[in-house]
Amino acid sequence: MSIFWNVWIIGLTSINLILLLWVLLANRKVAIRDDDDPENKTTGHIYDGIEEYDNPLPKWWFYLFVGSMIFTLFYLILYPGLGSFKGLRGWTSVNQLEYQQKQALEQYQNSYGVYSKMTVVDLADEPRAMKMASRIFDNNCAVCHGADAGGALGFPNLTDNDWLYGGTPEKIKETIMEGRAAAMPAWAGLLGEKGINEVTQYVLSLSGQEHDATLVDAGQTIFANSCVACHGQDGRGSHANGAPNLTDDIWLYEGTPAGIRQTLRAGRNGNMPAQKDRLREDKIHLLTAYVYSLSKEN
Ligand code: HEC
Ligand code: HEC
Repeated sequence: MSIFWNVWIIGLTSINLILLLWVLLANRKVAIRDDDDPENKTTGHIYDGIEEYDNPLPKWWFYLFVGSMIFTLFYLILYPGLGSFKGLRGWTSVNQLEYQQKQALEQYQNSYGVYSKMTVVDLADEPRAMKMASRIFDNNCAVCHGADAGGALGFPNLTDNDWLYGGTPEKIKETIMEGRAAAMPAWAGLLGEKGINEVTQYVLSLSGQEHDATLVDAGQTIFANSCVACHGQDGRGSHANGAPNLTDDIWLYEGTPAGIRQTLRAGRNGNMPAQKDRLREDKIHLLTAYVYSLSKEN
C-alpha cells in the first residue's frame, strides 16, 4: 500500500472517531428538567398534540457509546485497522485460517484416533465407526464397487465372502493399501478358437453349468497344461495371485459360454488402485473394518 493511502486511511479513521466523540460531548445536556417548569423547553415538534421535551440522552445510552469508543481504540491498537499498521497481536486472516485448520485436523484425528487403536474385528462391531467408514467408502470406493459394495462386471462384490485375495483383516488391508493388479493372460494366439472352446466347456463343467460333454476331456487336458499354475489343480483359484475360483459359479466377468470365451481370448487385467498415497492410514483402517464387516454375516 502506498504511503498516501496509508496516511489517508489512518487520517480518515482518526478524524471520524474524534468528530463522533465531539458530537456526542458537545450535545450532552446534564441538567435534569422539572416537567412543571414553564421555562422547560420542548423541541417544538408536536404530533397529534404530543410534545417532545428537549431532554438529555439517557445515561445508559451515553455510556454505551463511550464504551464502544473505548473498545474501538483498543481494537485498533490490537488488530489491523489503521492503514498498514498490523496491530499488536499480529493477527492476519491467513494465520487465523491456519489456526482453525490445525484445530479441525486435531479434532478430526482424535475422532479417528480412538478407532485406530482398535482391532479390525472389534471395529466391525462398532456402529458409529462403521457409519463413518461407509461414508468414506461412498466417497472413494463406490464408483467401482457400487454404493452397496455389491460390485459390477469386473469389479468384485465385497459382500459375498468370496475372495480373490483373501478376506482376513490383514489381506483386506494389504489389498486396499497396495492395490492389486490381476494378470490373466490372453490365449487366442496359443490355443486358437478350437482350444478356447474346449477349455471353456471344461470351465463350465467345473461350476456345474450346462456344457458340451464331448469336449470336456480335451478341455481338461488344456486346463492341466495351461491353467493350473494359477487356478490350481482343482480350479479353486489362488489368493496369492488373485486367480478366481472357477468352481463356485461366482463370476467377476461373465460366466456365460460367450463371456468365458471372451475372457480367454483377450485375457483380463483387473486393477484395484492402491490407496496408501490417497487416503490416510486411519481411514484405510476404518475401510478395512468396513469391508470385513460386509461379508461377516454371510
Ligand atoms: C477404479 C476402480 C476401483 C476403486 C476406486 C476401488 N476399487 Fe477395489 N477393486 C477394483 C477392482 C477392479 C478389483 C479387482 C481386482 C482384480 O481384478 O483382481 C478390486 C478389488 C478389491 C478388493 C479385493 C476383493 C477380493 O475379492 O479380494 C477389495 C477388498 C477392494 N477392492 C476394496 C476397495 C476399497 C475399500 C476401495 C475404496 C478405497 C476400493 N476398493 C476402490 C476396483 C476399484
Ligand atoms: C498367470 C496366471 C493365470 C493363468 C495361467 C490363467 N489364469 Fe485365468 N485368471 C487369472 C487371474 C489373475 C484372473 C482374474 C483376472 C482379473 O481379476 O481381472 C483370471 C480369470 C479367469 C477367468 C474369469 C473368472 C471370472 O470370475 O470371471 C476365467 C474363466 C479364467 N481365468 C480361466 C482360465 C483358463 C481356462 C486358463 C487356462 C487356459 C487360465 N485362466 C489361465 C490368472 C491366470
